[in-house]
Amino acid sequence: MENRNKKVNRVVLIGTGAVGCSYAYSMINQGVAEELVLIDVNEAKSEGEAMDLNHGIPFAPSPINVWSGSYQDCETADLVVITAGLAQKPGETRLQLVEKNTKIFKEIVKNIMASGFDGIFLVATNPVDILTYVTWKESGLPKERVIGSGTVLDSARLRFALGQHFNMDTRNVHAYIIGEHGDTELPVWSRASVGVERLEELPAEKLNKECLENIFVNVRDAAYHIIERKGATYYGIGMSLVRITKAILNNENCILTVSSYLDGQYGQQDVFIGVPAVINRGGIREVIEIDLNEKEKQQFNHSVTVLKETMKPVI
Ligand code: LAC
Repeated sequence: MENRNKKVNRVVLIGTGAVGCSYAYSMINQGVAEELVLIDVNEAKSEGEAMDLNHGIPFAPSPINVWSGSYQDCETADLVVITAGLAQKPGETRLQLVEKNTKIFKEIVKNIMASGFDGIFLVATNPVDILTYVTWKESGLPKERVIGSGTVLDSARLRFALGQHFNMDTRNVHAYIIGEHGDTELPVWSRASVGVERLEELPAEKLNKECLENIFVNVRDAAYHIIERKGATYYGIGMSLVRITKAILNNENCILTVSSYLDGQYGQQDVFIGVPAVINRGGIREVIEIDLNEKEKQQFNHSVTVLKETMKPVI
């Protein structure tokens, strides 16, 4: 009987700052895994968070064990989520964090791998595309098993904004933002749809190009606007990470714009960047190549160049 029981899913979270805790809180509320281990350089913080979260478990949709652990707990983890590192200050770009967070990451990934970890990595710390690359390099794991949150949040922000604009449920809005999770990202309008209609085929009176451009600029700069007001962003990214976690643990084969390793797709090599990819229990099943128009291609290539240039001194 014993071995017929469903395998217990263990997720280890590294970093219990605002992003990590928003993730943990959403994980518990959405009943996603059976075990959630919290690790932080500040042990008292992760202990306190585990205690606090545990007191809400009687109200969670399903049982989950939450504890403050150590790197050794990564040995049997299915998924390790990293949110540790420094966050943007007001006015700071994501790319400006690269040096300090790369150093922190090399140490963290070394510790995780020393446990014997052989699961999937999900990276959220900025600059996320570069730190996903660092995680892949340092871990030596297959590229399919190293995933960055990429532009999942940006695509969610775009869907939300379009939903508001067209007064349509966000779940019926399909729209992708690809590229760097940051200033050089781009929307793929040619593949956006609202309800059953393709955005670009909407009649002129319903579709104002300038208005769409404003929507995108607000989405691209959303983190700056939030950081100016409240100092940090965490709920949106926390829930985006839970969405990716569910896609992995539930073997969903769903499409999300995660940061994925490109190996020839989009004419690019050796870079992690936000593109639509099919996610399942094995990680990234495949990268989906959208047929971009000339302008989009140029923007995407520019995004790759910026990431590679930023990465050069730290890799
Ligand atoms: C944001 C952070 C996660 O876009 O980069 O909110």
